[in-house]
Amino acid sequence: MTGRTVIRGGLVITASDEMHADVLIEDGRIAALAASSTPVAEAWTAERTIDAGGKYVIPGGVDAHTHMELPFGGTFASDTFETGTRAAAWGGTTTIVDFAVQSQGHSLREGLDGWHAKAEGNCAIDYGFHMIVSDVNQETLKEMDLLVEEGVTSFKQFMAYPGVFYSDDGQILRAMQRSAENGGLIMMHAENGIAIDVLVEQALARGETDPRYHGEVRKALLEAEATHRAIKLAQVAGAPLYVVHVSAMEAVAELARARDEGLNVFGETCPQYLFLSTDNLAEPDFEGAKYVCSTPLRPREHQAQLWKGLRTNDLQVVSTDHCPFCFVGQKELGRGDFSKIPNGLPGVENRMDLLHQAVVDGHISRRRWIEIACATPARMFGMYPKKGTIAPGADADVVIYDPRAEQVMSADSHHMNVDYSAYEGKRTTGRVETVLSRGEPVITEREYTGHAGHGVYTPRSTCQYLN
Ligand code: URP
Ligand code: ZN
Ligand code: ZN
Ligand code: ZN
Repeated sequence: MTGRTVIRGGLVITASDEMHADVLIEDGRIAALAASSTPVAEAWTAERTIDAGGKYVIPGGVDAHTHMELPFGGTFASDTFETGTRAAAWGGTTTIVDFAVQSQGHSLREGLDGWHAKAEGNCAIDYGFHMIVSDVNQETLKEMDLLVEEGVTSFKQFMAYPGVFYSDDGQILRAMQRSAENGGLIMMHAENGIAIDVLVEQALARGETDPRYHGEVRKALLEAEATHRAIKLAQVAGAPLYVVHVSAMEAVAELARARDEGLNVFGETCPQYLFLSTDNLAEPDFEGAKYVCSTPLRPREHQAQLWKGLRTNDLQVVSTDHCPFCFVGQKELGRGDFSKIPNGLPGVENRMDLLHQAVVDGHISRRRWIEIACATPARMFGMYPKKGTIAPGADADVVIYDPRAEQVMSADSHHMNVDYSAYEGKRTTGRVETVLSRGEPVITEREYTGHAGHGVYTPRSTCQYLN
């Protein structure tokens, strides 16, 4: 219990409104909002008053795609739940949904239990889980029903990574049919991994081993083809579909076409696809390895189509796909063979700031910023209005954001447990000042005041965003 807090004089921004309002917090929840300087607001007394004059008061970010401690390519993502959720808080994110992993030959339950054990007692902010299904069989299909009942309501499948996470079309169809019955949402890694593996083998045989070839073999057309196939399989199954980490404009076009037909098809993109490009993958001296992720970064011309998709709601969510690997000792595993570079980028701390920069740059409105980073991910994954908004009854996950402060992104100042920043030297306008998680200050005027174990597991209902 945290008593009463009042946030005075800020501009409250939600996905639907902007208002100069004071916010009253009681026992970890939003109790009331009232126009600032009115008798109603002025009558409020509280143990703690936060002056938000000249600042934005926004819902804490909801990052629906993280991979803390993910085993990948013979190593583990370098952020633990402790370091990763602390960094998330620094960046104004107050809820993550991480991917628990089913290893092949093991049950979903074993995978989920393992993820609970990693997270419990270690998180600075609240967390939920999706489940990566790497082995679809009669048992796992039954387990999906049980997981939905206990709040793990979304399942990731991979059309990529044969022999690791890969599912074939029959397995995908079966899981989609099941989700059509139990209300789960299939999240698809849409790349044709079988064809990509042929191109990888051919590139390596030609001596094309540098990081930039990662981008060349993982072709946009193979993302588009897989996206199209996933959409058609979902249509056959009568199931909704959420495509993760969309980077190719051709894939956006597939999603737009399906949505024009009225299908329950949704798309997520990530800051790295909006702000970085194949130019980064081509950086010399193996520096390009820092930017190896899948789907890969694309040539710059794709970015305009991603921004357009975010404006037209053909893309609904921006998550980070935070999956950090240090350059030294981890990314270096792929020197001389790009296919051995662990896939993934750090970013959980940068997302809210980069998307605010997109507001400054005129790509999206302030309310759309909150919609794609807070409200829609909360709705998509069954946490709204507890998470993702500022309204009476919601959890008091609130960020005081200074829209004018300038900062320079750098590994020297970030809090993620990784030895480089994908945005090293990037100047942005806007900065997190104070972060409350269920009313408790986690960041207080740019000091960490949270603690591991404050964050609790958040079971989720089914998708609240269907057409
Ligand atoms: O490169 C990436 N995206 N690594 C994380 C695993 C995944 O496919 O999301
Ligand atoms: Zn993926
Ligand atoms: Zn991912
Ligand atoms: Zn606490």
